[in-house]
Amino acid sequence: MQVVTEIAELKKAVAAHRVQGHSVGLVPTMGYLHAGHASLLAQARKESDAVVLSVFVNPTQFGPNEDLDRYPRNKEGDLQLAEANGVDIVFLPEASEMYPRPSATRISVGGITDKLCGASRPGHFDGVALVVSKLFHLVGPDRAYFGMKDAQQVAVISRMVEDLNLPVEIVPCPIVRAEDGLALSSRNVYLSADERAQALVLSETLRRAPEWLAEAGGDAEGLKARIRARIGEMPLADIDYVEVLTYPGLAPAFGAEAAESAWIVALAVRFGKTRLIDNRLLTRQEIAEALASPLQAAKGE
Ligand code: PAJ
Repeated sequence: MQVVTEIAELKKAVAAHRVQGHSVGLVPTMGYLHAGHASLLAQARKESDAVVLSVFVNPTQFGPNEDLDRYPRNKEGDLQLAEANGVDIVFLPEASEMYPRPSATRISVGGITDKLCGASRPGHFDGVALVVSKLFHLVGPDRAYFGMKDAQQVAVISRMVEDLNLPVEIVPCPIVRAEDGLALSSRNVYLSADERAQALVLSETLRRAPEWLAEAGGDAEGLKARIRARIGEMPLADIDYVEVLTYPGLAPAFGAEAAESAWIVALAVRFGKTRLIDNRLLTRQEIAEALASPLQAAKGE
């Protein structure tokens, strides 16, 4: 495994694979790696001859009052996990390498970035789109792997790739959870034992979403109200948003467009200083099944 910190070394390392005709898979991360990141690396390993992992806590995607300075870091642990997952090249740049001077160029994906996390974190997705497009240009991967844990990020990057005809395939990967259901996140280390216990309400409400959608007669507002009420029973939970939207378009989940599209149930909840996100997709079939369920039939009688 090659560990590089400079752009020139990164390009050389990738070029050495390219001359051998190798395909290249890229997994961009901010480090403090866990089994969620490992699942992306495993998928990349399956599909690509050379796997490139980037570990960079990207300052341009953090707001002024966010946790950039205290974002958890663990270089040794990250390198071990990378090695164990068959990574070929690790790119670990300093901020001065990625941004020798502030970027005058912005990349803004319109429409889908003004809701969910984009509404709570203004400018966040501009920073994500900027750094990911820089990484795409530096590595030139055939495929890049992103977790559905950050479903809006997948929608934003996919739209950017489509709009700009970037020659890379975006591969969305499923959410990896702890045994008790909590979605893995580098930020979970911030949680106290009580906060962590109460945070299970996120995955619990997502599990029950199809049943609650049926009980609400297929009405997204009814489902949202049920979820809010349940999360509200947790004294340490402070809701940022509970949303049901179409996916990947992120349009309201009613009307003609919504009837043809998958939906996303997306949650962002603060526990103390820690903001957690989680989501679940409802396919057209799951929505149809919810509406055809016996519960729904009983309600209609
Ligand atoms: P980071 O939060 O480190 O996540 C890196 C990748 O791992 C993302 O694609 C994220 O969705 C995925 N991931 C995190 N937790 C996961 C889980 N429990 N299951 C599956 N995948 C999971 O997302 C970022 O970094 C940054 O915004 C980045 C894309 C690197 C740009 O800076």
